[in-house]
Amino acid sequence: MRSVWTTTFRTVRAETEQRASPLGPEDQVVQSMPDASPTKWHRAHTTWFFEQFLLAPHLPGYQVFDEEFAYLFNSYYVAAGPRHARPRRGMLTRPELGRVAAYRAHVDEAVERLIASADEAALPELLRILEIGLHHEQQHQELLLTDILHAFAQNPVAPAYDADWRPPQPQRKSARGFVELPAGLHTIGFEGEGYSFDNEGPAHQVYLRPVRIARGLVTNAQWLDFITDGGYATPSLWLSDGWATVEAEGWHAPGYWRKADGAWLQFTLAGLKPLEPEAPVSHVSFYEADAFARWAGKDLPSEAEWEVAARAQLLDDAFGIVWQWTRSAYSAYPGYRAAAGALGEYNGKFMINQMVLRGSSHATPAGHARASYRNFFYPPARWQFSGVRLADYTT
Ligand SMILES: [Fe+2]
Repeated sequence: MRSVWTTTFRTVRAETEQRASPLGPEDQVVQSMPDASPTKWHRAHTTWFFEQFLLAPHLPGYQVFDEEFAYLFNSYYVAAGPRHARPRRGMLTRPELGRVAAYRAHVDEAVERLIASADEAALPELLRILEIGLHHEQQHQELLLTDILHAFAQNPVAPAYDADWRPPQPQRKSARGFVELPAGLHTIGFEGEGYSFDNEGPAHQVYLRPVRIARGLVTNAQWLDFITDGGYATPSLWLSDGWATVEAEGWHAPGYWRKADGAWLQFTLAGLKPLEPEAPVSHVSFYEADAFARWAGKDLPSEAEWEVAARAQLLDDAFGIVWQWTRSAYSAYPGYRAAAGALGEYNGKFMINQMVLRGSSHATPAGHARASYRNFFYPPARWQFSGVRLADYTT
């Protein structure tokens, strides 16, 4: 059993390094906006998480790699002490990459030693923290890609992260139209075996009125229709905050779309590519998703509707293509309580002013997606692989 955990730990840690491997030292230090973090910071912060919450309290005699790293690489855990300001993570030219690699190796060795040597009685609690750390690192693996895409998008020569990367393709192009969800009481939220974040529970019943939910994702071609029809120039389609953002940011298309010689291009992880009409739209904000739904005479599904439909396997491309905005505000499920201590800061304190996205994206690591998973971002955010699935209440 311990060897399984060691293997899992190595696999997750190696995936981070794999994702960072195409990136040189200059790439890894840049921070293109306050919401995005440098690759080097992701690599160090995920390492600090194990050191702070697993090794320092639980491995006897553990020597902290560098006393200053807690300040540099703590993200938002107030209970874990003061920290470097998030918008200034790109200023950290030091420690250099090699020292961050050494930090990772130091912590890797200690975690494996802890897994091998811990008392049987202490093991369940240690593995609980280890597992949080692994899922935490997987979240940062996705951010590593979305953050470097944003950084590279600022570069006029449009560099490729991976020249072989291809936009996510829908599983079944023929699958269009809407499917009806049975009205009545349904249970949502995580229960049973396996890992979940605390924000996925408690499982509870919800009452759904009759609704039809789109089998497939909204495509780039559909989004072009929205643009051509004046979607970005029609205030009545937009929430007030959304329209203010359209005006302030000059939005006229999804993130990373560029028009050249009358043709639409999209900046991707493979560099600048022709826009693929049948690919699902990506890099839209909640505001845009909401306006598109209004323009289409439809709605966004609630997160409960999405989860019920996904559990019943009624949806195509629920996972692995783009996250799907819901119209649900990110808030606590009935009876939710954040855990005591610093790790209780993981999810609960962010349950305000953000919207829930469901599913997963092609950047989500294997083993990190499930029907109850609640992703959340602020309504204007569009640097994630975020798309749209519609719902329909008309009969
Ligand atoms: Fe984190």
